[in-house]
Amino acid sequence: MGSFCFLFPYLAFHLFLLMLLTLFTSYTFSMCKHHDSSALLQFKNSFFINTSSQPGFWSHCSSFSFKTESWKTGTDCCEWDGVTCDIMYDYVIGLDLSCNNLNGELAANSTIFQLKHLQQLNLAFNDFFGSSVHAGIGDLVKLTHLNLSNTGISGNISSTISHLSKLVSLDLSSYSYWNMEQKLELGPLTWKKLILNATNLRELHLNTVDISLIRERSLSDILSLPNLQELDLSFNEDLSGKLPLSNWSTPLRYLDLSYTAFSDEIPYSIGNLKYLTHLGLSNCNFYAVLPLSLWNLTQLTKLDLSTNNFSGQVPSSLFHLTQLSMLDLSFNKLDGPIPIQITKFSKLNFVLLQSNNLNGTIPHWCYSLPSLSWLYLNDNQLTGSIGEFSTSSLNYLFLSNNKLHGPFPNSIFEIQNLTYLALSSTNLRGVVDFYNFSKFKLLTFLDLSHNSFLSINFDSNIDSISPSLNALYLSSTNINSFPKFLYIWHVDLSFNKLQGDLPIPPYGIEYFLLSNNNFIIFDIYNKIFSGPLPTTCIRNFQGMMNVNDSQIGLQYMGKANYYNDSVVVIVKGFSMELTRILTTFTTIDLSNNMFEGEIPQVVGELNSLKGLISNNGITGSEIPTALENLNFLSFLNLSQNHLEGIIPTGQQFDTFGNDSYEGNTMLCGFILSKSCKNDEDQPPHSTSEEEEESGFGWKAVVIRYACGTIFGMILGYIVLFIGKP
Ligand SMILES: *[C@@H]1O[C@H](CO)[C@@H](O)[C@H](O)[C@H]1NC(C)=O
Ligand SMILES: *[C@@H]1O[C@H](CO)[C@@H](O)[C@H](O)[C@H]1NC(C)=O
Ligand SMILES: *[C@@H]1O[C@H](CO)[C@@H](O)[C@H](O)[C@H]1NC(C)=O
Ligand SMILES: *[C@@H]1O[C@H](CO)[C@@H](O)[C@H](O)[C@H]1NC(C)=O
Ligand SMILES: *[C@@H]1O[C@H](CO)[C@@H](O)[C@H](O)[C@H]1NC(C)=O
Ligand SMILES: *[C@@H]1O[C@H](CO)[C@@H](O)[C@H](O)[C@H]1NC(C)=O
Ligand SMILES: *[C@@H]1O[C@H](CO)[C@@H](O)[C@H](O)[C@H]1NC(C)=O
Ligand SMILES: *[C@@H]1O[C@H](CO)[C@@H](O)[C@H](O)[C@H]1NC(C)=O
Ligand SMILES: *[C@@H]1O[C@H](CO)[C@@H](O)[C@H](O)[C@H]1NC(C)=O
Repeated sequence: MGSFCFLFPYLAFHLFLLMLLTLFTSYTFSMCKHHDSSALLQFKNSFFINTSSQPGFWSHCSSFSFKTESWKTGTDCCEWDGVTCDIMYDYVIGLDLSCNNLNGELAANSTIFQLKHLQQLNLAFNDFFGSSVHAGIGDLVKLTHLNLSNTGISGNISSTISHLSKLVSLDLSSYSYWNMEQKLELGPLTWKKLILNATNLRELHLNTVDISLIRERSLSDILSLPNLQELDLSFNEDLSGKLPLSNWSTPLRYLDLSYTAFSDEIPYSIGNLKYLTHLGLSNCNFYAVLPLSLWNLTQLTKLDLSTNNFSGQVPSSLFHLTQLSMLDLSFNKLDGPIPIQITKFSKLNFVLLQSNNLNGTIPHWCYSLPSLSWLYLNDNQLTGSIGEFSTSSLNYLFLSNNKLHGPFPNSIFEIQNLTYLALSSTNLRGVVDFYNFSKFKLLTFLDLSHNSFLSINFDSNIDSISPSLNALYLSSTNINSFPKFLYIWHVDLSFNKLQGDLPIPPYGIEYFLLSNNNFIIFDIYNKIFSGPLPTTCIRNFQGMMNVNDSQIGLQYMGKANYYNDSVVVIVKGFSMELTRILTTFTTIDLSNNMFEGEIPQVVGELNSLKGLISNNGITGSEIPTALENLNFLSFLNLSQNHLEGIIPTGQQFDTFGNDSYEGNTMLCGFILSKSCKNDEDQPPHSTSEEEEESGFGWKAVVIRYACGTIFGMILGYIVLFIGKP
């Protein structure tokens, strides 16, 4: 008896060892289910993996992981990168291949749909371009997390997705907002079934997924799901709806309905969402005053209500939200003053209040808040002078177009990391030595234009300025000499008092505006812009050369998508508004000068030139045959020159009306009422060798032509920069 008592712990220990051993062997020797393993390998092999591709393509992937590299036949798939197994049963329950650079079709018979035990599947940021969400997805009924965001999938989402009743998180979003043709679509019936079945849904990210056919009622249902924490339905321009007046899903932390057609007021009941950290309602059709209950959203870090029709005053309560980092109320109809009081614990980084009707003075906190990085107060009715800055955290400072006045605030030069500075149309006074701006090592954009009481002094020899400076707007600022350091993309020196020779724009420039200067602008007999067309100048218009056909329609101006907002383009006093600028919108305006001689051959190299306006003494024995290459030339105005001969036909030339040639009395041709002598025996589109040799057979008579104002030379257009950079 005694010995048994003695033996028992001993035996028990052995039993324990045995158990451990069994567990251990089962772990080592029973690999993941053979079936899962082969399904995974087939899945891997159905794609091509471009290991040389850069993560930059999907900027949200910090790095590509190439997890599937470790997937080898004969090894335990539970050990493979990106694979998670159930410890008890060894089948695959999780697969994370996000940012793995898989390229190819996610096919209807893909073996991924055989992994019936999958609970979490993340294939985000791969390239399945052109694939759709197939019926097989409905077989993965155990899924709690499904992430197919940014995979290039499009088309109708299979209705079987509603079988996924255990879903907690669904992400089908895409960041390619401009790729409107390749959207995913979620039909109203599927939506309804999904919402009814997946009652545990906490995160739903459907930005850019087309759900516009869903009725308002069903949308309200989603906003009252009891567990919903994140909802993103943004970038659905046709999706209309209203925010519910009650029954909000109170755990909501993240709500984004930006770029939808949601309308009406923000109801007072929004104050119930006390866990909300992100509220994005920009670019919708909301109106009326902002409810004071926003004050109750004490967890808010980001509030974006920009580009709506909100009116009334900015609720001063907003500036007491201690967690708020970004406040964007820009492009509304708000009036009254900017609140003066602000919580002393404020974490505000981004304050965007531009393009409203705000009045009163700039509150003190704008100059002193230590966390402030972006301050946009431009395009309002603000009065008073610009105070002195004591904060040094600012990167973006936009105060343009207000009713401000007073001295130039010299403390600006102490803001070491200033990157964007816009103070145009602020009635600033004083003399500013441009040398001071060379202190900003990161300066990218500088707009001081339309300050006619300001004098900018270039006299001190500045040989270096921030290498990132790519836009310099100094129109109407009384500059006295031409800055020598210019290697900037966008230069606007119009409306100043510059004199002397026409400066040659630097290589690679995109905008170069010199109109309305005192290049005399005024004794035409000085013939400043007379003589041959400046070939050197034209050769520097790189942007207009070698624009690839396949890029047309996709490429927009601005190296970093600076021009998402609209611009006003002024060509020869005629203004038009463009919502985005195509790189192909390229014009040279040489009108009203006294250029003479031949049109240089180099013009033919500007193969994306869209307009060529000329109102000069252009002559020359021939028009370069190279002009034929200007496939994008959509208007040609050679009026009021002294050209002679037959107007060519064929190619681009068939698209111009006869008003393109008026005032050239010696021209003749099919398009003019005046036919050429030989028309009868010679068809106008003749391609006889003799004609080809002499260009189009044009001749011109040299008559000095002088007219109007000398406009200088305008490359491109005037960009009135509105809003966000
Ligand atoms: C899927 O179908 C294609 C033909 O449509 C076939 O070539 C391929 O082998 C099939 N894959 C699997 C895993 O059955
Ligand atoms: C989906 O996956 C991507 C990449 O891992 C991640 O950035 C994103 O937050 C995921 N979505 C959700 C809702 O978790
Ligand atoms: C709801 O989910 C269950 C379980 O996956 C499924 O059997 C059923 O068909 C689903 N209902 C609808 C309407 O999709
Ligand atoms: C907002 O908070 C106040 C108390 O601070 C409370 O009286 C009011 O009912 C709340 N409003 C909402 C909509 O939650
Ligand atoms: C500001 O605008 C409001 C509303 O338009 C007006 O009532 C008020 O008088 C204005 N205040 C100043 C200082 O201009
Ligand atoms: C300026 O930027 C640098 C680099 O990001 C940073 O280390 C520095 O603290 C910044 N200076 C100020 C005054 O914010
Ligand atoms: C402009 O849009 C592009 C997406 O097309 C985005 O990547 C970029 O950040 C946007 N720029 C601004 C300043 O909003
Ligand atoms: C060409 O310029 C002349 C004079 O500037 C103008 O009258 C005419 O309408 C213009 N034609 C076209 C096609 O732009
Ligand atoms: C221009 O064409 C119109 C018909 O399209 C014609 O009536 C007119 O006379 C032409 N003008 C000249 C100057 O040839």
